[in-house]
Amino acid sequence: MGSRGQLLTSGLLTLFLLLPFSAFSTRFVFSGDLRGEIKPCGCAEEGDMGGLLRQATVLREQRATSPELAYLNLGNNFPKPSEQGNLKVRLIHTALRQFQPAAILVGPNEWAYGLNTLDPELPYLLSNQSERLDFLGRKRLETDGRHVEILGFLSSSLVYQNENDPPLVKSVEVVVPEWQADLTKTKPALSILLFRGTDVELEAFQRSGMFDLIVSGSTNDDELKQVMARKTKRGEIPMIPTKGQGLVSGMWDAQAGTIRSSGEMPLPEGLSVDWLRRDVVDDPELLPEFQTYNMEVKELFFTNLDRMDKQQQESPFVGSTVCQACHAEAFSIWKDSRHSHAFATLETQGKHFDPECLECHVVGLKSWKPSPDWVSPALKSFVGRTGFLSPQLTPHLINVQCENCHGPARAHLANPSAEKPPHPARAVCTSCHVGSHSPSFNFKSYWPKIRHK
Ligand code: HEC
Ligand code: HEC
Ligand code: HEC
Ligand code: HEC
Repeated sequence: MGSRGQLLTSGLLTLFLLLPFSAFSTRFVFSGDLRGEIKPCGCAEEGDMGGLLRQATVLREQRATSPELAYLNLGNNFPKPSEQGNLKVRLIHTALRQFQPAAILVGPNEWAYGLNTLDPELPYLLSNQSERLDFLGRKRLETDGRHVEILGFLSSSLVYQNENDPPLVKSVEVVVPEWQADLTKTKPALSILLFRGTDVELEAFQRSGMFDLIVSGSTNDDELKQVMARKTKRGEIPMIPTKGQGLVSGMWDAQAGTIRSSGEMPLPEGLSVDWLRRDVVDDPELLPEFQTYNMEVKELFFTNLDRMDKQQQESPFVGSTVCQACHAEAFSIWKDSRHSHAFATLETQGKHFDPECLECHVVGLKSWKPSPDWVSPALKSFVGRTGFLSPQLTPHLINVQCENCHGPARAHLANPSAEKPPHPARAVCTSCHVGSHSPSFNFKSYWPKIRHK
């Protein structure tokens, strides 16, 4: 009986706690810095965080409990430019449209990709743009009957501009007095700056006192060591996580003039972050878009394959089966290791046509570059050639094999005693066991599992 009573009280308590929030406050949610990481690879559970599908789910849940929700994106969502990158950009825009952002700051990655790729239907924001650009200059929100002003700053230090042309973005010295005069006139109940720039620029905005809240894009590349705040002499401001691994949010109580949050990990200025772990389900509405993306990637794979197949000369890679005859023990140890199943692993995920996955799960996907201090004269003419083309054309080069670590063995096969493959340095492991692909990697604990000498 006791537990039921408890349940009731705790239910009432939650209701009581939730009511004032949902009735009188606005939830501000911040993310960005996807950097092309549309979906976590799932290589290791510890590193399995983020992705658009989980963001969609959490945003949907937050909208259900907070009808007044403003989603602000700090940009830098695009990957590096490439053919596959173009497919990703389309998928990212589809997802962003579903997220219904109030504003998206133009980030350095979007700039580098080309401003003409930005979807004109999305509210891309750049408040310090010059007259030569045509983005949203500011975003004004009416929420709970009050006026919120959102501005976005992108530093000239983060973008390429032709030195001979007039600048495309204005400096902090120019915009601070302009914006200050403007905000004094419009008197918003809340002013927010989406910021990307240097510490000096940040301090100038802090000194001006014109913003109630400044949120910074991520200046950190290491997803295993998330940095969630930026410190200057004038204090700390919240920073969003890198690679879209979490959603930052806070509840703005307009009457009290405060921002509070109840998320997983507290950040400066009353915000907090919720990490997008494996237990967050994929959004069912967005999932078909990812299936389409996988199909497009597969099509692109075969188009490129056609081209490569025509150019393909003999590969320097021969595959492990031929090693078995002379290195029986090494072969059988390898065969029992997970390396020999790496391709099947991708097949189960439907990702065995995605070069971004194949790279570490097959032999010689990319052009072969020998180590700077060693190349066998017999292999010189093979530099720059590839190994794996497709499971049909090169079935002997699927999986992680001997030659991923020892280098191409064609010369060794022709002349075993004279052309010995080099002993790999430990660094060979971390070409694949890197970042979120293998957060627990440690040579001491991993090597014994595959030792074969
Ligand atoms: C026809 C027999 C033969 C085949 C096939 C063969 N090897 Fe060897 N391998 C040798 C011999 C012989 C040596 C030299 C052993 C020595 O000098 O102690 C050697 C040495 C090596 C070494 C050690 C180099 C060193 O400096 O100690 C590696 C690594 C190696 N082979 C990898 C491979 C790989 C990978 C394959 C398959 C692609 C392969 N071998 C196929 C015979 C062979
Ligand atoms: C070409 C990329 C690549 C290189 C180089 C590489 N690995 Fe791996 N490794 C993988 C992949 C991919 C898997 C997972 C395969 C699977 O489960 O499908 C893996 C799995 C493993 C596992 C199994 C992990 C476990 O918990 O059971 C061990 C151990 C391992 N690697 C050790 C090493 C060591 C040590 C080195 C360096 C000497 C190394 N690997 C180099 C790609 C690589
Ligand atoms: C930079 C190299 C790299 C890339 C790129 C890569 N992987 Fe992996 N993957 C690994 C390594 C290393 C492991 C083994 C991790 C470990 O056990 O520590 C692994 C393991 C896995 C596993 C096994 C997980 C398990 O516990 O059984 C899956 C599934 C996987 N990868 C899928 C993918 C997919 C899908 C992609 C592309 C979106 C991808 N990988 C891209 C290196 C990579
Ligand atoms: C994941 C990386 C990796 C893979 C895969 C791998 N090796 Fe090795 N191999 C190494 C490392 C690292 C050493 C140890 C080098 C050292 O101690 O300096 C080694 C050592 C060896 C040696 C012994 C060299 C000696 O010192 O006598 C032979 C032979 C060899 N490997 C053959 C193979 C063959 C054959 C395969 C495939 C069936 C294979 N290896 C797969 C990384 C790898």
